[in-house]
Amino acid sequence: MSTFKPLGMDRREAFRSVGLLMAGISGASVSNAGRVLAATENGPVRLIANENPYGPSQSAQRAMAESLEDGWMYATAEGRILRKLIAEREGVGEDHILITAGSGELLKMAGLSFGRSGDIVAAKPTFSMLVAYARNTGATVHEVGLDQDMRHDLAAMESSVTANTSLVYVCNPNNPTGTLLPADQLRSFIDTVESRATVFVDEAYVDLLDDPKHNAMVDQVRAGKNVILARTFSKIHGMAGLRVGYAIARPDIIKRLRPLQMSFLNVMGMRAAIASYQDDAFQEYSKAKIKECLSVTQSAFDDAGLAFTPSVTNFVLFDTGGSVRDFSRAMRRKNLLVGRSYAPYQSWCRVSMGTVEQMGQFSEALWAYFRG
Ligand SMILES: Cc1ncc(COP(=O)(O)O)c(C=O)c1O
Repeated sequence: MSTFKPLGMDRREAFRSVGLLMAGISGASVSNAGRVLAATENGPVRLIANENPYGPSQSAQRAMAESLEDGWMYATAEGRILRKLIAEREGVGEDHILITAGSGELLKMAGLSFGRSGDIVAAKPTFSMLVAYARNTGATVHEVGLDQDMRHDLAAMESSVTANTSLVYVCNPNNPTGTLLPADQLRSFIDTVESRATVFVDEAYVDLLDDPKHNAMVDQVRAGKNVILARTFSKIHGMAGLRVGYAIARPDIIKRLRPLQMSFLNVMGMRAAIASYQDDAFQEYSKAKIKECLSVTQSAFDDAGLAFTPSVTNFVLFDTGGSVRDFSRAMRRKNLLVGRSYAPYQSWCRVSMGTVEQMGQFSEALWAYFRG
């Protein structure tokens, strides 16, 4: 970054103080559009991994640039700061928060811990990280198909809970369908199930919703229920490569998970997260851009006459009506990387939101493939 100046000792000391660090993001300019285009100029356009090319925010970039000299340090103080910020915003104690290397690390920790003490119940298809890790480490996983609206079939999942079940994984909104459960249904599901098994709600995309407060299950944690929530800086904050996520759960559950953590927090990621977490303007911008992308993409599916899921996330699952492999190969030839299919929806393909311009490119390629 051309404006970077090494920090003098005085400023560095000051930077380490909680107060200044927390105040240090004012005046953030929100747009990353120029950099987004530059970053993707040469390689294929990545519409494949539910990343967010509008991030990291300018405030996060500045925090990282100002941290270059501090790469020698363990990020213990930063971990405390971020935990405090999250706890305050979520209305829980700091002992309810565990920061992890992306939410992926947390998913694996839960898969390992709970998979050792019983069976796992999960939807199919859903985000596979917890399920796959549990299986790979010897657990039994019971998969329950989605309902006809491609949403979790909560009644069927509840019936699958047995005396052996230790954890039920609910990804809401769900990846790869992008669908959202009605919040009241999920709350009553938790009510019925939590005395028998821990309910793990993966809220990776909850910040992108119109009403995150109503849909997030943090009230269930506050009420002392047997619930784990997973959150991430990879989506709305556009920080997938920086690896910051966190759990919100009762302290006894946090204590159970913590010993399984493998990684250590990194200074860059933590300082970027602290800045971005307080950067409401960027989060609004990021959310608005993703919505604009969704609207461009869904119009393209409508124009091409293709069925698609009513996604509230930064990806859409749509029906190619044929071979997803053929479709993605054709897109690859146009320099567009798109996702794959998910059993049992073999002809459906997931596409992630890039920039608005990239979704325009995708729309043209889609039209040429299906209607050209
Ligand atoms: C539902 C869901 N949970 C968790 C993750 C993992 O994200 P990260 O490890 O980057 O926080 C993803 C990533 O795509 C996801 O879709």
